[in-house]
Amino acid sequence: MSHAPDVTRRTVILIGGAGTALALAGCAAPSGSSGSSSKGTGKPVEIARLADIPVGGSISATLDQKPVLLSQPKAGEVVAFSAICTHLGCPVAPGKGEFDCPCHGSRFNSTTGAVLGGPAPRPLEKITVTIDGDRVLAG
Ligand code: FES
Repeated sequence: MSHAPDVTRRTVILIGGAGTALALAGCAAPSGSSGSSSKGTGKPVEIARLADIPVGGSISATLDQKPVLLSQPKAGEVVAFSAICTHLGCPVAPGKGEFDCPCHGSRFNSTTGAVLGGPAPRPLEKITVTIDGDRVLAG
């Protein structure tokens, strides 16, 4: 009997830190958006405007309909993370100088994604982003 894995098209995002990889399903983007859909082509997509991320602060955004967090620790330097808590998968939100999970209180460093407290066993998954002018691109 074959045991072929049930694999659909995926967009693989390069992950830093511990050298792990995060695979995000990338084929379910709805049609009708104008200009910022990846459509599973692997083409970078805009997930935020640099001007919308406060220097020293963070915002929430989405990538392929999944929640992500973006921080700008220094002017022109952006880091991004999956907003899915590594404890039980709740969406993590920007807090004061950190990311906070509303479900069980895990806290994460907003620059590194490292666990600062709570039950989360691992850092938030890092997402590679590039800056093109005022556009922050992922993928
Ligand atoms: Fe985030 Fe439990 S799901 S702390």
